[in-house]
Amino acid sequence: MYSVNDCKVVELPIVHNESGNITVLENGANIPFDIKRIYYLYDVPMDTERGGHAHYDLNQYIIAASGSFRVLLDDCINQKEVFLNRPDRALHIVPGIWREIRDFSSGSICLVLASTIYSEEDYIRNYDDLKAFRNEGSVF
Ligand code: TYD
Repeated sequence: MYSVNDCKVVELPIVHNESGNITVLENGANIPFDIKRIYYLYDVPMDTERGGHAHYDLNQYIIAASGSFRVLLDDCINQKEVFLNRPDRALHIVPGIWREIRDFSSGSICLVLASTIYSEEDYIRNYDDLKAFRNEGSVF
């Protein structure tokens, strides 16, 4: 079972150019899972909190493509907060981790690269269910 310490901020490559930068993520090259789905959050009202769930199987790269926000991670023992504000950084969220995303800056875009297609069955939307899942999966 993964812990919050397995959720790392990864530096992404930048192709510099006088006319701007490009960051490329490519299956089999520089991302530790194959991308099956891309989605992005935008027009998030101030003081709104997103997330509030975990996943059984999903790996995600979360990128502040524009603006900034905070991601709270929780493995039912430890918590960790990550501030994302650069398009050349990705937070890798591994399976079995509760996440809440908040403090979206005005105009921010939260880009998510996901390892599976959308499936409501993969969501753990109740914190106690996550605790039970993590205890069942534990070697202790
Ligand atoms: P949800 O993942 O709960 O939002 P967040 O974690 O960002 O607060 O998704 C909100 C709704 O959007 C959900 O009820 C179904 C829909 N949705 C899809 O249809 N496909 C997707 O890939 C995602 C991420 C969400």
